[in-house]
Amino acid sequence: MSGRGLILGIESSCDETAAAIVERGARTLSSVVASQIPTHAPYGGVVPELASREHLRAIVPVVRGALAQANLTLADLDAIAVTSGPGLAGALLVGITYAKALAFAQGLPLIAVNHLEGHIHAVLLNERECAAAHALQTRLLQESQPESALALVVSGGHTHLYLARPAHGSWTYALIGRTVDDAAGEAYDKVAKLLGLGYPGGPWIDSLARFGNPHAVPFSFAQIKTKAHLAGKTPRTKAAKTAPIAALDPRFLFSFSGIKTAVLRYVELHNLREEAAERARLVLAHPTVPQSREDALALCPPSTLDLIASFQHAVVGDLMKKTFAAAESLGAARILVTGGVAANRELRTRFTAEAQRRGLRIAFPTMALSTDNAAMIAAAAWPRLQAGEFAPADLTADPSLALGSAR
Ligand code: KG4
Ligand code: ZN
Repeated sequence: MSGRGLILGIESSCDETAAAIVERGARTLSSVVASQIPTHAPYGGVVPELASREHLRAIVPVVRGALAQANLTLADLDAIAVTSGPGLAGALLVGITYAKALAFAQGLPLIAVNHLEGHIHAVLLNERECAAAHALQTRLLQESQPESALALVVSGGHTHLYLARPAHGSWTYALIGRTVDDAAGEAYDKVAKLLGLGYPGGPWIDSLARFGNPHAVPFSFAQIKTKAHLAGKTPRTKAAKTAPIAALDPRFLFSFSGIKTAVLRYVELHNLREEAAERARLVLAHPTVPQSREDALALCPPSTLDLIASFQHAVVGDLMKKTFAAAESLGAARILVTGGVAANRELRTRFTAEAQRRGLRIAFPTMALSTDNAAMIAAAAWPRLQAGEFAPADLTADPSLALGSAR
């Protein structure tokens, strides 16, 4: 043990095997991510059995890579942190089993981290790194005080709003809103698959949407049913199991399965199936996200670019409307947007403009920390290490682990 607050984070909840070493939750010494995108791309989505197999292959070299990048050995570490849920059971188990074995062999404490809390700490880690750089420049070496914030975690598996509050050196999370069905990233991935674009769909739609008219197809979001209507109903979806919906304010509930169906209807009505199948063949042969207008037009006719732009405009608009309404209702002065979809360019631009208009502060993680990584897991574990909150010896995967409770 070094006593430097060195935590090795391990993340394997979905389709990235990641390891990172972060010092005192504030300085990233290394971060290695092995993506499984090429494995899952031909299927247009994550295949759980393949994900577990790929994690098994990658975990040892990825952890070794993180140690080598930081120029450290296992003996230098102070703790090991691992994602314990939510995520795919088999995938989570690979990371947990390896982390347990390492912790046991080295006599190190093991810290279990909720993946969603990790995404929130991706932004906090960035902020601490920037504050440290600024402090060095200005020679002001005092630590910045943590502040509460409304956090939108928007990824392939989640679209959740939390009120994150610092409490006695740690953080507490109150669930404010969530999706009642698909996550926003899931809608991106399903719409991309439907249109014959690559996997994951987010970066493809993000890139192509810039070349279409966002007002061409008027998508709308239906009003979500009231609390009274939802109360007593058994949630139908996998995501819905993780936290009670009936306890939440319906103004802050999201639903993305409707827009996915609306795109499907549009595709059928306009006979776009064949066009999409042809595109899927092209994309499989050249899986590179188009960057120029020329490349975009080589892949999609203008009407399809308009459809893509309209879909994205509607999704971002809905995320904005509910997030800012929640911020206003809670009196939050600060918003954090994190998770894979937070990498989206239109989302960043429109959220930033709206925050400025309302006089609110807003923060996003760097692009590399937006999607799944282990630096965010190691950063989230730091307050736990200080508080001595360690995982039990029988720690196991919890695929539907919830974060916080309803307010
Ligand atoms: O956080 P993440 O890596 O994994 C989960 O925890 O789910 O998020 C992955 C999701 C995918 O659905 C992917 O399509 C989406 O994030 N995504 C994006 C962008 N980059 C990744 N969605 C919209 N725009 C992007 N640029
Ligand atoms: Zn994630």
